[in-house]
Amino acid sequence: MSQLPFLYVENLSKQYSAPRGKAAHVVFENVCFGIEKGEFVCIVGHSGCGKSTILNIIAGLDQSSSGYVYVAGREVNRPGLSRGVIFQNHSLLPWKTALQNVAFSVRARWPDWSKSAVREHSLKYLHMVGLKDAEHKRPAQLSGGMRQRVGIARAFAIEPQILLMDEPFGALDALTRGTIQDELIRICAETRQTVFMITHDVDEALYLSDRVLLMSNGPHAEVAETVEVTLSRPRERASLVRSLEYFELRSRVLDFLVNRTEGTQHGQRSLQQDPASQESQRPDLGSAGQERGHVGNVGGVMRLR
Ligand SMILES: Nc1ncnc2c1ncn2[C@@H]1O[C@H](COP(=O)(O)OP(=O)(O)OP(=O)(O)O)[C@@H](O)[C@H]1O
Ligand SMILES: [Mg+2]
Repeated sequence: MSQLPFLYVENLSKQYSAPRGKAAHVVFENVCFGIEKGEFVCIVGHSGCGKSTILNIIAGLDQSSSGYVYVAGREVNRPGLSRGVIFQNHSLLPWKTALQNVAFSVRARWPDWSKSAVREHSLKYLHMVGLKDAEHKRPAQLSGGMRQRVGIARAFAIEPQILLMDEPFGALDALTRGTIQDELIRICAETRQTVFMITHDVDEALYLSDRVLLMSNGPHAEVAETVEVTLSRPRERASLVRSLEYFELRSRVLDFLVNRTEGTQHGQRSLQQDPASQESQRPDLGSAGQERGHVGNVGGVMRLR
């Protein structure tokens, strides 16, 4: 028998029942993809197609209507410390300090550890995200970017088999976003972390990932295409945006999002046939980010909402 990928999502479907006499609402169906150990995979797609639902099912926080999720060959269907989750709103415990927030999860992961072992381990990850001096501060005393870093430290500190991130940098300012993206790349390279991340930012997806999954619109959404991000690492923002390879990858993702998200298997009309409709769905393709040499972290860079 051939070996499954490290994370394997098999024929996943989600539907919501409708009032009597009406057809069920099928958000997505037959979603299949795999992620190898150490791979960084982003998923992009228009709002409402079901990305968060897929991530939540992988996290064990939501139930699929059919299909399976396997991590390291074992089926998962409930929350567990094998999967670390980072949400957009970082969901820290407000009454605990940065260190206590991280330590809380570390203690849950390794209940037998001594107090000092928990503290030492938690501090290591807080330092890793550049929060050496903020360990005693509560979330209200931290900036949004710092809070997000605590959330990242907490997720990394439990050394999950896979890290799941739902638009983790959506609320951050351009500079902080760039800094945290770079930290994330460094930490992932150091720890060979496997990552599944949702983003609405095409440049961010290309900067961070090894592959980008492109999801069609619902109902009956599916993972319609995969783009291999062949850009060599380490990636350098300023030179990336000037490279032809980057431009071609970016064009491919955008072409899908603008022209081909209407799905393939249900015979829906392609937006390509209707320029007016195509125009109305076009993401904001401002060029400010490129001119300043940033990737995916500046107002004006494409947003898919
Ligand atoms: N209880 C429910 N009943 C019916 N439909 C629901 C219910 N909960 C969610 N949905 C639908 O499921 C779909 C997928 O939602 P989900 O949050 O996964 O989308 P998303 O791709 O993450 O969107 P966004 O990019 O805006 O975060 C949406 O179209 C939503 O309307
Ligand atoms: Mg979502």
